[in-house]
Amino acid sequence: MKIVRTVEEVRQAVRTWKAEGKTIGLVPTMGYLHEGHKSLIDRAVAENDHVVVSIFVNPIQFGPAEDLETYPRDLEKDSELCQTAGASLIFHPDPSQMYSPTFSSFINMSTLTGGLCGKTRPSHFQGVCTVVGKLFNIVEPNKAYFGQKDAQQLAVIRHMVEDLNFNLEIVGCPIVREADGLAKSSRNSYLSKDERKAALVLSQSLAIAQKMINEGERDTGKLTLAMTKHIENEPLAKIDYIEFVDWKTLEPVGLIDRPVLNAIAVYIGKTRLIDNHIYE
Ligand code: PAJ
Repeated sequence: MKIVRTVEEVRQAVRTWKAEGKTIGLVPTMGYLHEGHKSLIDRAVAENDHVVVSIFVNPIQFGPAEDLETYPRDLEKDSELCQTAGASLIFHPDPSQMYSPTFSSFINMSTLTGGLCGKTRPSHFQGVCTVVGKLFNIVEPNKAYFGQKDAQQLAVIRHMVEDLNFNLEIVGCPIVREADGLAKSSRNSYLSKDERKAALVLSQSLAIAQKMINEGERDTGKLTLAMTKHIENEPLAKIDYIEFVDWKTLEPVGLIDRPVLNAIAVYIGKTRLIDNHIYE
């Protein structure tokens, strides 16, 4: 497995593979890899001849008050994980490689990005779409792999690929969780012992809604209320949003009467965590 830092080196590897008729899978990440990322890489390795993992903490998807500087990084451990999983190449560019001083072309989506995480993170999806679009152009993969953990991101990327005719298939992968239910996330490393315990309210509140829905409840107002009560019982937790939205349009729904995404964002202390469940 090779680790490269320039677009040209990636293109060279890709040219060779394509000349040999090989297929390429891309797994875009910001590093500090865990089992969630590994599940994407494993799937990509199973479905493609070569897998490129990009590790890039993308500055333009962070807001001014967000954790760009402190975002956890560990290239050595990440490389081991990628190597063991069978990836062929890590693309680990410097920000200057991705954004020249004259960089001024961004991908903006006028639907899907305003609600949920877009409310508190107004330029986030512009940053995500732009970097992912660039990665698609650099790697030209046959398939690219994204986790359902970031459900809005998955919906936005699928929509972007359709709108802009990117010539690849997007593969969505299920959420990988800790044994106690907490969704795996690089940001879990910010949590103190008490916060780690408190963070369980996210998956627990989703489970409460799931149980109510299994028992026949369809009113998203009542479901939201039950989830809110559970989270508000935890003093270290502060709700950013609890939403039930149409899984295609991401518009709020009053009833569970179609495929619905139940998405939540909750601050545990200073750390903002997200989780979700999709009712297909
Ligand atoms: P990052 O947060 O590093 O996540 C990279 C990929 O791993 C995303 O597709 C995310 O949904 C997936 N992932 C993270 N935790 C997961 C879990 N517990 N289970 C399953 N999949 C999980 O998402 C980003 O980076 C960036 O926005 C990126 C797409 C790389 C653009 O910069």
